[in-house]
Amino acid sequence: MPASESLCPAEATPMRIRPLSAPLGAEIDGVNLSQPLPLSAFAEIERAWRERLVLVIRDQRLSDPELIAFSRNWGELDPPGPNPYGAPFLPEHPEVNVISNVVEDGKPIGNLGAGEAVWHADMTYIDRPPKAAILHALEIPPSGGNTYFADMFAAYDALGADMKSRIQGRIAIHDASLNSAGQLRRGYEPVTDVRQTRGARHPLVRTDAVTGRKALFLGRRTNSYILDMELAESEALLDALWAHAGNMRFAMSHEWRRGDVLIWNNLSVLHRRDPFDPTARRVMHRTQIKGEEAVR
Ligand code: OGA
Ligand code: MN
Repeated sequence: MPASESLCPAEATPMRIRPLSAPLGAEIDGVNLSQPLPLSAFAEIERAWRERLVLVIRDQRLSDPELIAFSRNWGELDPPGPNPYGAPFLPEHPEVNVISNVVEDGKPIGNLGAGEAVWHADMTYIDRPPKAAILHALEIPPSGGNTYFADMFAAYDALGADMKSRIQGRIAIHDASLNSAGQLRRGYEPVTDVRQTRGARHPLVRTDAVTGRKALFLGRRTNSYILDMELAESEALLDALWAHAGNMRFAMSHEWRRGDVLIWNNLSVLHRRDPFDPTARRVMHRTQIKGEEAVR
């Protein structure tokens, strides 16, 4: 795919960061992510990510090595978890995940299909989930497949005092068996009793190491369980928390264009995706950045 000069304004215009008119999110323009970034520019981008939790950068055309090089500014890359097919989608770049509904020669080229992906955070079933995910849109269907992000600091702040004290110190299991499209990962059995769910255990309330702010940390609903609780009580409490967390008053929506790069703060936002026409093509490449500290 030939790069278009008109899409590379980085040298001509200074970088600009504007908050979106939503509770979270910022759009950055005047930056070309295929080039090495000056340290000062990266520091500004990182600050905006910490404050606004989701960054939108349009009109990029990153090859996989360029996506990887940009991603390394953020820290060490986290390889994707096992997918349902048992082998990396891009053998030459195993640290890159492919999010796509496209099937070639009878084999899916990526994860998640064309259905809805319900509210979740990525890879919270491991002990040190990624602090950031970077998703680059290569092909986008004419409509559908919008992605939503919800601010879990705001969701925590909006809980009543009673609920805050009920969840303080509580730990939940984050299921490893299913991906965000609800498909069983290679090597896992379907969960029949959520008290036996395989996956990492994390506090429901996460305190950000840098800002000290508290966020709800829910991961994914299916097969979740709050330790040391009656099953019915855990189910009811989780249902209440999830109903609250997915409220659009904490959220932004993103309508994708080809070339978009989105970077989200995976430990403090949830995201979900609308379904789209399964006969249309949607292809995205994604990297994940290792979390630095235990999720406490
Ligand atoms: C992801 C994800 C949403 C989308 O990459 O983790 O959930 O819009 N993707 O494809
Ligand atoms: Mn996801």
